[in-house]
Amino acid sequence: MEKETRLLRAYDLQEDAENIALAGKILREGGIAAIPTETVYGLAGNALDPAATRKIYAAKGRPSDNPLIVHIQAVGEWAPLVRELPEEALALAKEYWPGPLTIILGKSPLVPESTSGGLPTVAVRMPENPIARAVIRAAGVPLAAPSANRSGSPSPTTWQHCADDLMGRVDAILQSADCRVGVESTVLSLCQRDKDGRILPRLLRPGAVTLEQLRAVLGEVAVDRGVLEQIEAGEKALSPGMKYKHYAPAAEVTLLEGDTRQYRAYLRERGRPGDWAMCFEEDLPLEGIPARSYGGREDHAGQARQIFQLLRELDRLEAKRILVHCPQKDGVGLAVYNRLVRAAAFRVVELEG
Ligand code: TXA
Ligand code: MG
Repeated sequence: MEKETRLLRAYDLQEDAENIALAGKILREGGIAAIPTETVYGLAGNALDPAATRKIYAAKGRPSDNPLIVHIQAVGEWAPLVRELPEEALALAKEYWPGPLTIILGKSPLVPESTSGGLPTVAVRMPENPIARAVIRAAGVPLAAPSANRSGSPSPTTWQHCADDLMGRVDAILQSADCRVGVESTVLSLCQRDKDGRILPRLLRPGAVTLEQLRAVLGEVAVDRGVLEQIEAGEKALSPGMKYKHYAPAAEVTLLEGDTRQYRAYLRERGRPGDWAMCFEEDLPLEGIPARSYGGREDHAGQARQIFQLLRELDRLEAKRILVHCPQKDGVGLAVYNRLVRAAAFRVVELEG
């Protein structure tokens, strides 16, 4: 499926207006394009056109039962996509949109099954990145956009990552700034209700809008088991994306949970040739093992910005094993942990002594 992929500069709304308009045209006419968002780059296509979403699945090499997030650029574009808009949803949008929060509700007939992966629900978000919103506006249709990586490789946080994965497989790649957040949006389901009809919000994927921030608006929010644990084969996943091995570099990744002294001791005693340390700023310098820091221990937002590009870099450096100092799990740290524990295929070692 070799295609000609156009590289379109899109750093600035005014200077690059022509390229943004062209991207909109490509998308409106059924093409697919990698576009920047504040979280990660997305592989966009017309969310209402099954032929376009089929192209997205094919270019990514993604199973087509894994539903896509639909991106809008104004709150008014939400109502036609869903069966109803409860007040909880509107309160969240008022607080956190535009921004890295995706909200799942019952879908309207307008949303094709190919977009929702056969589910009766639809995930919607309004990105904060102004280029993303301008492209949606130019396309004139809501855009389905999974992360713009080949399925199974780390999500792309720079346009070069998109080019590495998708050159020749998509119609266009927008060359824009690196992603501010660095991990995908928070995914929240508002689809379940209790016997009195009250909504039971459930966090399916942590992101830069934190659990604490969601609870500030909604009160109780349940955390789906798939956020922290492995969904076993044959188990039903609420968010189909959770059941796939995800964000996996070629190297074997292990998370090491403990303080700096314990982490250093483990590397010293158990390190082998081909190992790389992915550590906190505070752990440096490390003796006898090549190392990359992914941020300060407490700097969760900084860590989120780093992890995917570091995993790609360590792959390029042909790391055999990546020994990660396990992040804390509060605030945005929960999102960092969720991505790293998947990259590690849930291998976590609790350090002792
Ligand atoms: O930040 C993001 O959300 C990025 C950018 C491009 O916007 N997009 C993204 O899409 O991460 P993707 O397709 O890589 O991840 C979407 C996740 C998957 O885990 C999928 O299973 C889940 O959201 N999802 C989508 N629609 C759903 C639905 N109706 N019910 C349950 N889970 C859903
Ligand atoms: Mg993805």
